[in-house]
Amino acid sequence: MNSRSLLRSSVSRRLLRPVADLIDQRIERQVRSAVRRATDRGAAGGSGSEQLVRDVELLQRRQLTFELLLGPRGRGISRMVAEAPLERLYAEVAALSGDRDAAVRNVAAAFRLLVALESLGVGRIAGGTMNICGKLGTIPLLDPPNDEILEIGTLYGMFSAGLVRMMERDGRSPSLTIVDPFAGVQLQPGTEQRPDPTGAPVDEHAVRTNLGLAGPAGAAARIQQGFSEDPETRAAVSDRRYGVIVVDGDHSAKGVAQDLEWAEEIAAPGAVVVLDDYGDPHWPGIKNALDDHLKGDTRFTYLGKAAHSAYLRAS
Ligand SMILES: C[S@@+](CC[C@H](N)C(=O)[O-])C[C@H]1O[C@@H](n2cnc3c(N)ncnc32)[C@H](O)[C@@H]1O
Repeated sequence: MNSRSLLRSSVSRRLLRPVADLIDQRIERQVRSAVRRATDRGAAGGSGSEQLVRDVELLQRRQLTFELLLGPRGRGISRMVAEAPLERLYAEVAALSGDRDAAVRNVAAAFRLLVALESLGVGRIAGGTMNICGKLGTIPLLDPPNDEILEIGTLYGMFSAGLVRMMERDGRSPSLTIVDPFAGVQLQPGTEQRPDPTGAPVDEHAVRTNLGLAGPAGAAARIQQGFSEDPETRAAVSDRRYGVIVVDGDHSAKGVAQDLEWAEEIAAPGAVVVLDDYGDPHWPGIKNALDDHLKGDTRFTYLGKAAHSAYLRAS
């Protein structure tokens, strides 16, 4: 006899009846006390149903306030967090860093920083909440070999501002270089060019304002206007070996391949290279480009991914 039919047998039912009666009594007691509470509230200030309406209105006001802070309005993407993706991110950052406590701490710190920067800054950080928190949280934990950071493709410069702050929280002294065409909108080959959902222009002025939020290291950032594949752009910023390179410019397979080739030349030994939007179904060329790149002669080893970003270590 299997366990289900065992439970259904008349002997079992007889034996279990006192337990079932006890559970019934408990449920009944709880329902009675909930009704009593609602009646008491009604006696104090109107009927129970009026009180219920007031409670729902209060909850709706709180929800609206919360939505204004974290909802998609004015930014195009929500910053609300759900438990399953957050737990997945903790696990991914922990796997990359080898330190679960530090992963949880950094992801939480990154989330608060993201909300603060988007509240105070011009524009937004591009992408989903988990991907942004993953990048901000993971990079310092991978212990880059020096404090020189290069971001290829910055949009509003707000991610770099956040990264500067996260590195400083880890006792580092970041020095930032940024490359972007600053075309007034986000340039992406093959996609329609639309004004940003925040309404703010994508220009160097906005980037400077946002970098100012990251204190002296942000204000001191070196900004190079231009396309990352252009020889003049490369010549202007290839004067050092970077400990961190964030590849987030041209998202086409060709663009990513070119940026990875350049990164091979300018990455310091042990550098951390982050490839944004890796595995994002909207940008299949990114994964294709990295997969192809890793099949060739390369200094990079694939460490893993967190949300939609791949992490590489240079030899
Ligand atoms: C996805 S956004 C960058 C988002 C930013 N890293 C962030 O986290 O908020 C891509 C940026 O790369 C710029 N871009 C496009 N093509 C580029 C290229 N060839 N070289 C450098 N930047 C480029 C776009 O104009 C845009 O500002």
